[in-house]
Amino acid sequence: MRRKLVAGNWKMHGSLTENEALLSGLLAGMGSVKAGVAVCVPFPYLAQAQAKLTGSSIAWGAQNVSQQVKGAFTGEVSASMLNDFACTYVIVGHSERRAIYGESDTLVAEKFAAAQAAGLTPILCVGESLEERESGITETVVARQMDAVIAKCGVASLAKSVVAYEPVWAIGTGKTASPEQAQAVHAFIRAKVRALDAAVAENLIIQYGGSMKAANAAELLGQPDIDGGLIGGAALVADEFLAICRAA
Ligand code: PGA
Repeated sequence: MRRKLVAGNWKMHGSLTENEALLSGLLAGMGSVKAGVAVCVPFPYLAQAQAKLTGSSIAWGAQNVSQQVKGAFTGEVSASMLNDFACTYVIVGHSERRAIYGESDTLVAEKFAAAQAAGLTPILCVGESLEERESGITETVVARQMDAVIAKCGVASLAKSVVAYEPVWAIGTGKTASPEQAQAVHAFIRAKVRALDAAVAENLIIQYGGSMKAANAAELLGQPDIDGGLIGGAALVADEFLAICRAA
């Protein structure tokens, strides 16, 4: 039985003061939560997350990582640096990274490998754009994104990762994929992995992301292949995020 995992992706939001209030709110409400919970915060706030969450049931992580180990890479942050702040997770291949910062499937696979080499659990984001969905190539796109990682790291590497299916057209738009639409792609991802390794597929946590909120979480999370959520906007409001965690 896969344990559900709800992760907040704070994106470029927050401040020391706001984070203090948000994390305090989350900690206060965790008593009734049975799912795994994590927050992926901006790099400068990792120390704050570590200080606040150590010893709690909330894990923390980052939203990006360099594919490089160390060196002259101005502005980059390595996986070992994330380890210095006891991160559990790091998001790789978020659609905003792919679209705005030009991250290719190959680069995302390299980041996935760098994260795992340092003992971090990558949350690998995959998903199609609206144009791709309307052209009927959702599965082709998601398969290509998955294949880049499988080709570089092997299917067994997925055992120490989380996959997040995030249709780009549903991110931050208020347009959620219907539970049936999301379930269909989740089932496709799991079947694809199952064809290579049945045990890895059964245990793989596949989160849904894209305008998940308290009001639609239970229905999405009730689907057989949806094992949690990667939450953007709703992760910035303690009560909203906690409601999703409780639904999970
Ligand atoms: P959203 O973002 O919940 O605000 O749609 C999800 C994500 O981008 O991870």
